[in-house]
Amino acid sequence: MGRVFDWLDEKFKIKAPHKRFLQRRLPPGINYFYCLGGAAFTSYLLLFISGLLLSLYYVPSEMEAYESIVRIQNEVHLGWLIRSIHKWSATFLIVFILSHTLRVFISRAYKSPKELNWIVGCLTLVGAFASGFTGYLLPWDQKAYWATTVGTSMASTIPLAGRHLMYIIRGGMDVGGATLIRFYSFHVLWLPITMAALLWAHFHMIKRLGIKGRL
Ligand code: HEM
Repeated sequence: MGRVFDWLDEKFKIKAPHKRFLQRRLPPGINYFYCLGGAAFTSYLLLFISGLLLSLYYVPSEMEAYESIVRIQNEVHLGWLIRSIHKWSATFLIVFILSHTLRVFISRAYKSPKELNWIVGCLTLVGAFASGFTGYLLPWDQKAYWATTVGTSMASTIPLAGRHLMYIIRGGMDVGGATLIRFYSFHVLWLPITMAALLWAHFHMIKRLGIKGRL
């Protein structure tokens, strides 16, 4: 395998210009728990790719959303698999982000000069939860409808602005077609774009400030 790579490198010359990225010095005390951020990122990439494929067949309309999901599940070639990959990578993303956060907390890597990266990480976590919440409505079945009705009604318990906030989130008084379009837009555009920007900032700071090693 190594010889094949060496031969390819002789032709493409990729190793030398990327040495700076591929061969970084790591502080002592690094262990497998430091792979959790990378595992979260792998889940994020899987989510992104499977989401792109699902968007080829999903129809975000009150009349057709449910049927389009049934079609993806039963008729589209490997549709059931892409749906499962999307669902499971979302689950793993949450598990990996939470364990990564715990690793960062235990190794006290949130301290100066990395406090801003901790805040950026927290915003990414909120983005991941919001993506899960907005995605849950998209199958447009009874479970999705009632989960969103209960979830969005919690906003109304916030003093003073609560009812307005719930109205804004739902796009009306009740969960309906406007909510579906709003959630779809947040799920496939607003949140992925925001999370990509946050992750860029996250990785940029890791590159510049390094990783915290042994305590
Ligand atoms: C999709 C979400 C996330 C991804 C893909 C991600 C990815 C990564 C990666 C690859 C690293 C390098 C070291 C390692 O893997 O442990 C890292 C470091 C770091 N992450 Fe995250 N992360 C995410 C979410 C978070 C969250 C939620 C927090 C905190 C609330 C956070 C805070 C940090 C901090 C402070 C560092 C620097 C750690 C050090 O210097 O040792 N990250 N992240």
